[in-house]
Amino acid sequence: MKCAETIPTREECLRLMGEYRMLENIISHSLAVTKVALFLSVELNRRGQTIDVRLVEAASLLHDLTKTECLKTREDHAMTGSQLLKRIGYDRVGEIVARHIWLGREGDPSCVCEEEIVNYADKRVMHDRIVSLEERFRDLKERYGKHGKEVYGIENKIFLILQTDPDDLQDL
Ligand SMILES: [Fe+2]
Repeated sequence: MKCAETIPTREECLRLMGEYRMLENIISHSLAVTKVALFLSVELNRRGQTIDVRLVEAASLLHDLTKTECLKTREDHAMTGSQLLKRIGYDRVGEIVARHIWLGREGDPSCVCEEEIVNYADKRVMHDRIVSLEERFRDLKERYGKHGKEVYGIENKIFLILQTDPDDLQDL
């Protein structure tokens, strides 16, 4: 039995992505989200945050693990992905995946958590391209309209700590 803190390695994540037959375009999206999330985590840690970088990497790679299947079943892939990951022993990764679309609760104003990083990085990647929140929300208006305010709050917090501009991510 694996403990709650078990985090899959990058290799194990890539293996799971294959095992659950993720569509190629969803894999490309997940790799781009991972790049953004890792960059933000490392930069935030350089400025005193204590983000678990390995955990962010695994959750970013696996955040859409069941999305391919859910395109057919119309299930909520944040929920089914989270349940699957918890079932195979990756509890903490599952918790982050559960909140990657909608964070659902206010975070600590001075501290950025892994959930916020993955949620925000996902919103900054449209397909496999880094975009502004504005552009991404134009694309996702129907699905994310009411959640827009939440993610702008995360953006403000992250970039207040980083003392850089959200547009700088475009050059990654
Ligand atoms: Fe997703």
